[in-house]
Amino acid sequence: MNCGKFIIQNSPPLRGRVTIGGSKNSVLPIMAAALLTEEKCSLFDVPELSDVYVLEKLLKQIGACTEWDTKRKCLSIEAKRIVKTEADYDLVGQMRASFLIMGPLLAKTGEVKLPLPGGCAIGTRPVDLHLKGFSAMGAEISQEHGYVWAKAKKLAGAHIYLDFPSVGATENIIMAATLAEGTTTIENCANEPEIVDLSNFLNSCGAQIRGAGTDTVRINGVEKLYGCDHTVIPDRIEAGTFMIAAAATNGDITVENIVPDHLKPIIAKLRETGVTIEESPTKIRVSNSGIIKAVDIKTLPYPGFPSDLQAPFMSMLSHANGISVVTETVFENRFMHVGEFKRMGADIKIDSRSAVVEGVSKLTGAQVKATDLRAGAALIINALIADGETEISDIHHIDRGYHRIEDKFLKLGARMHRV
Ligand code: UD1
Repeated sequence: MNCGKFIIQNSPPLRGRVTIGGSKNSVLPIMAAALLTEEKCSLFDVPELSDVYVLEKLLKQIGACTEWDTKRKCLSIEAKRIVKTEADYDLVGQMRASFLIMGPLLAKTGEVKLPLPGGCAIGTRPVDLHLKGFSAMGAEISQEHGYVWAKAKKLAGAHIYLDFPSVGATENIIMAATLAEGTTTIENCANEPEIVDLSNFLNSCGAQIRGAGTDTVRINGVEKLYGCDHTVIPDRIEAGTFMIAAAATNGDITVENIVPDHLKPIIAKLRETGVTIEESPTKIRVSNSGIIKAVDIKTLPYPGFPSDLQAPFMSMLSHANGISVVTETVFENRFMHVGEFKRMGADIKIDSRSAVVEGVSKLTGAQVKATDLRAGAALIINALIADGETEISDIHHIDRGYHRIEDKFLKLGARMHRV
């Protein structure tokens, strides 16, 4: 794991090209889904992120064989033989997405014991919707000593309505349903591009999933799943981070290897602030030469504004012309970064689920801490436009979701290094 700090100086406007990697939030569920299959699955465009390595370690612990071909950004997983159906807190506690192995293990082996993931910096993040789904499919669920057990000789198709379109619950239930007996229907499910990518992967392995990308998904259970080759979709959050950074620094960059459709809410909001965006099928040019207009944003499930880009967008609004209101509806505690922003001179007041951001003429460099992954990325953007030098600690959070982010920023002209 790359640890340490980033030292960042006030930088010139970002200029140049940046190539976006494969999506973290796609590859993690797809890696978990490989547990359902009987043959080798080769995943391409896999980002080299610490979260990917943590999940790979977990998959190996339970019996999967993995192999990297880093030149081709390919990770192969073969999980014919599962030797263990439980995981330790040490590993699962490092990353909430580890809970995504529950659906596949339950469907394939009939039992699983996992530590409850617990809360994190952005909220309590329960898994009740995942468990309600498994239970509707006939699993016996019990919880004790911080662990959750699920057992089912054979899962049965069910009709499941999610109280909230949770991304993780939708993914976990889809995975479990692929090997269940009969048809499972999930209503009010998440329709993020990552759900579509997971479903495409599973369908290539022989699953029968219809409706991914809408709010109702139907899965006809099949006897078994086979291997396949699959290329992971580009990371829309990494792309959005660089687009916002370019706008915030009055830069002019081209973001390559993206699906512009996945970035609609960010494109719309950037345009509202006065930023110029030119779209083409696999890239976007973002340029800004004027004053940033204050705008209001509200995070929502896809295709609404992504919660993962709330903190980076707030960086830009911190020095916009006027007052913006940022409302977070997805996570109850995703304003931890505001304290760090204020250390850099931002003028932000939190009122329940909204933050009122009054643009200041300049931010100032300071010693700050990355409180979570996306908050860390936001602090980098702040640091690029702040006067003087900024020191960001706890950057292991940033490495969870951005592969050597400093290399990409350096190529665009940023003045930063890792110590
Ligand atoms: C995923 C993403 C994360 C993103 C989030 C929202 C991955 C690995 N992570 O997280 O980057 O910020 O989607 O787009 O893909 N909830 C419940 N009960 C549950 C499950 C969720 O109440 O059983 C609540 C959560 O506490 C939260 C909201 O639903 O308030 C959204 O969570 P969810 O969509 O499940 O997020 P994750 O899948 O954890």
